Amino acid sequence: MKVLIATEKPFAPDAVKSIKQVLDNAQMETVLLEKYSDKAQLLDAAKDADAIIIRSDVIDAEVLAAAPKLKIVVRAGAGYDNVDLDAATARKVVVMNTPGQNSNAVAELALGLMVYSARNFYDGSSGTELKGKRLGIHAYGNVGRNVARIAKGFGMEIYAYDAFCPSEVIEKDEVTPLASAEELYETCQYVSLHIPATDETKNSINYALLNRMPKKAVLINTARKEVINEAELVQLMETRPDFKYITDIMPKNHEELTAKFANRYFSTPKKMGAQTAEANNNAGIAAANQIVDFFVNGNTKFQVNL
Ligand code: 3PG
Repeated sequence: MKVLIATEKPFAPDAVKSIKQVLDNAQMETVLLEKYSDKAQLLDAAKDADAIIIRSDVIDAEVLAAAPKLKIVVRAGAGYDNVDLDAATARKVVVMNTPGQNSNAVAELALGLMVYSARNFYDGSSGTELKGKRLGIHAYGNVGRNVARIAKGFGMEIYAYDAFCPSEVIEKDEVTPLASAEELYETCQYVSLHIPATDETKNSINYALLNRMPKKAVLINTARKEVINEAELVQLMETRPDFKYITDIMPKNHEELTAKFANRYFSTPKKMGAQTAEANNNAGIAAANQIVDFFVNGNTKFQVNL
């Protein structure tokens, strides 16, 4: 049984060791494809794989077609918008994620980016504090909950909007639930995005919504770049000199944003919310265990293409 770890952005070396250990114990072979630059390398590596562990790596119909033995793909992480679920289902390939395993890492980065913004990108000028500021958490899943927990330590006033999470769950964390995204953006100077990229959410963070934010607004995006309407974000930042956009997912129009809004826009060069030793270990080991459990016991608990 061959398990391919295909990670354009590699796990920490210790995480790879731990994944291999889990697979070795189950008499499964580990094949490692890291930092590949060409899809052809993935197609070639996938050809005799029974299982694949990925991160943001794209598994589309072409990759699935190149892997005739493939039974399962596990996305070591939360979002699975990088996998063609319909194509996988058509080929009877089970797709899973590992929810919650990297969420603290992403949440810590979101708060780190808020501090970076509040302190004027550490340029030496007098900044502001997060204490007492209103934070809006857009989607209250695993990452959103961790953001709330950490933001509480900063003394922020915390609000959340989630179309699917019952308000009792949000209230239990002493976070104020709001009834709509519009209300969240109107209420909060800081908004932290944690929505997945779906047909409904793509391009949904637009001029009209962002323009509801109060003065000195800061939008933090550690979710997905696809949810932002980038052209309208530029338009908004042109009309709102008080507005900052901070992200760890480089937008398509990064050059334009950098040129126009140097001290109000920041993106890390690589998506790095989940890039910690702990998150790599947690998500990687969970992925390996799920693969073993699938082949040995038929467990499909974390399947997302039902
Ligand atoms: C996720 O969906 O789990 C995060 O966005 C992390 O993605 P990554 O594994 O590519 O860093």
